[in-house]
Amino acid sequence: MLTVLGLESSCDDSAVALVTGARRILAQAVVGQNSAHQPFGGVVPEIAARAHVEILPGLIRQVLNDAKLSIRDVDAVAATAGPGLIGGVMVALLAGKGLALAAGKPLLAVNHLEGHALSPRLVDPNLRFPYLLLLVSGGHCQLLEVRGVGNYRRLATTIDDAAGEAFDKAAKLLGLSYPGGPAVENLAADGDPRAVPLPRPLVGSAEPHFSFAGLKSAVQRAVASGQHSPTDIAASFQQAVVDCLVDRTERALMRSDAPALVVAGGVAANQAIRRALADVAAKHGRGFIAPPSWLCTDNAAMIAWAGAERLSAGLIDTLNAPARARWPLDERADKVRGAGVKA
Ligand code: KG4
Ligand code: ZN
Repeated sequence: MLTVLGLESSCDDSAVALVTGARRILAQAVVGQNSAHQPFGGVVPEIAARAHVEILPGLIRQVLNDAKLSIRDVDAVAATAGPGLIGGVMVALLAGKGLALAAGKPLLAVNHLEGHALSPRLVDPNLRFPYLLLLVSGGHCQLLEVRGVGNYRRLATTIDDAAGEAFDKAAKLLGLSYPGGPAVENLAADGDPRAVPLPRPLVGSAEPHFSFAGLKSAVQRAVASGQHSPTDIAASFQQAVVDCLVDRTERALMRSDAPALVVAGGVAANQAIRRALADVAAKHGRGFIAPPSWLCTDNAAMIAWAGAERLSAGLIDTLNAPARARWPLDERADKVRGAGVKA
């Protein structure tokens, strides 16, 4: 049975996993760095990279021990090679190259976004290509048609902030701790989603792109006005994000025949967003798949799984594979005017 060791360190989670080609997770571990970054209200790249160097080697030993395997027993080593914070990306990629070289195993330099994109197939053996993917995380907000392993067509991206970034910024304005998504979702549960009038940027526009910067500014004004409770602001903000994601996804569904809608990435852990997307999929006669929350936020099982899929497709990398800060899944996609540095 094919067994792949996966390594992930592209943002603020150090993660290692052992996954088989038969969709069994033999062992996995994720160590977050929330407390290290909390005083700064966001991820500090230098702190993250140093923490990965300290954490990752022990995690690799732990996961191999948990699975009662040695590196000689694995068939390949998959490491995230980007996109992400370059100092962090280099940690897992160099560790992966070292292990692959020492043990004589093939290296799979995995695109982190491909890890998210293929993750639903790890838990759902019936999910076939193509499917429409809403990828919503701290660094990315995209709609992609997933046509096969290594075959992606981007239908839309954000022209400014990612959805998770918007949650994190709103959380900071509300005085909540990092990461903001879960904190805002908790607070929103007790608020009125119609209490605070907030914009829905780009809703109704022809191209299914996203924009969240104006929403952040509006939250800033709502907080400064002192007229609304934090619970109402959180609930209204979350509703605005839901409305944007739903409208943009519907627009993309009109352009894709894919029989299933899939949501992945950290923001996909949000229950209100999952419910709204399930309704949209049903309305358009499509299936709906949302991986379990632990698989939506950053982890190494998705990297090992993407590695297993790539290995099966014969897509092996050399030890020269570069670490990339930017690495779009669809290299042919047009640059979107106003788009920031998001991959
Ligand atoms: O995929 P991920 O773990 O890391 C990136 O690749 O970015 O996503 C992290 C992002 C953060 O912005 C976090 O605030 C957001 O996902 N997030 C959520 C929730 N859980 C995590 N956003 C909204 N609701 C949640 N429950
Ligand atoms: Zn991610």
